[in-house]
Amino acid sequence: MTESAPPAHARASHRFETPRLILRSTEVDDAEALTLVYGDPLNNPLGFVIDDKRSVAEHRASIEKQILSTARGENAWLVVILKPDQVGVSYKESDLQQLHVHDGFFIGCTGFNSFRIGPDSATLTSDIGAVIHHLFRKRAMALETLQAVIEYGFSVLGVTVFTLETNARNVPFRALMERLGVAVEQITEGGFGQEGDAVNYQFGMDEWKVAKQNLIASNKWYL
Ligand SMILES: CC(C)(COP(=O)(O)OP(=O)(O)OC[C@H]1O[C@@H](n2cnc3c(N)ncnc32)[C@H](O)[C@@H]1OP(=O)(O)O)[C@@H](O)C(=O)NCCC(=O)NCCS
Repeated sequence: MTESAPPAHARASHRFETPRLILRSTEVDDAEALTLVYGDPLNNPLGFVIDDKRSVAEHRASIEKQILSTARGENAWLVVILKPDQVGVSYKESDLQQLHVHDGFFIGCTGFNSFRIGPDSATLTSDIGAVIHHLFRKRAMALETLQAVIEYGFSVLGVTVFTLETNARNVPFRALMERLGVAVEQITEGGFGQEGDAVNYQFGMDEWKVAKQNLIASNKWYL
C-alpha cells in the first residue's frame, strides 16, 4: 500500500528569521537546552507548561517523534533562538552557556501545535502558542515570535484560521494577546478542569490585517 502524500503545508523542517530571532524546527541536539527551559520552574510559574519533568533522554525521544510529525504536516513545533549578535550585555555568561546551541541561544518554544484541514480543503486551522525563558522576558521576544509565526503561517503555509487557548489565570499571556490585538473569541468555564476557565482566541487574515496595522501604528511591530 502506498502512503498518501503529505499535505501542502508539510515540510521536512521549518526555519525563518526575524531581526533578533531564528525560529526553526526542534533538532535532536536541542534536547539539553529544551530540558533546561522546560524544567526551570521560573519559566512556568503558573504551572501551565506541560512536559516540565522530562529528562534529556525523554526530550530527545520526543524530538525524534516531532521530526516525523512535522514531515507529516500534523504540527510544526519550533524553538526560539536568539541570534548571537543580539544578546547584549545583561546576561550572566553561565546562563548563556547553558542555553547555547549551534546557531545561537535557546530562549523559548513556539510553533504550530496542530494543523486541521477543513472538509472542503479550503480552510487550514492551526493552534499556536509561545513560551519565553524568564531571563529574556519583557523584551518583546514573545511579540516578535508570534508576529513571525502568524505571518509565516498565513503567507507560507496557507493557514486560514489561527486559534489559541490559554488558562484564564494566565494574566501575562492574556496581556500579550491583547497587545497583539487579537480579541477573545470565548471563555469556556472549567475549560481546564480544576485548573480554571479557558480563554480562546480565533482569527483569520482580515482580523490580522487590522491588528498588524495597529501594531505598526503603535511601534509594536518587530519584523
Ligand atoms: C506570556 C509570555 C510568553 C510573554 O513573553 P514576553 O517575551 O515576556 O512578552 P513580551 O515582552 O513580548 O510582552 C508583550 C506584551 O505582553 C504583555 N505582557 C507580557 N508579560 C506580561 C506580564 N508579566 N504582565 C502583564 N503583561 C505582560 C505586555 O502588554 C507586553 O507589552 P508591553 O511591554 O508593550 O506592555 C511569557 O511570560 C511566558 O513564557 N509565560 C509562560 C508560558 C506560558 O504561559 N505560555 C502560554 C501557554 S498558552
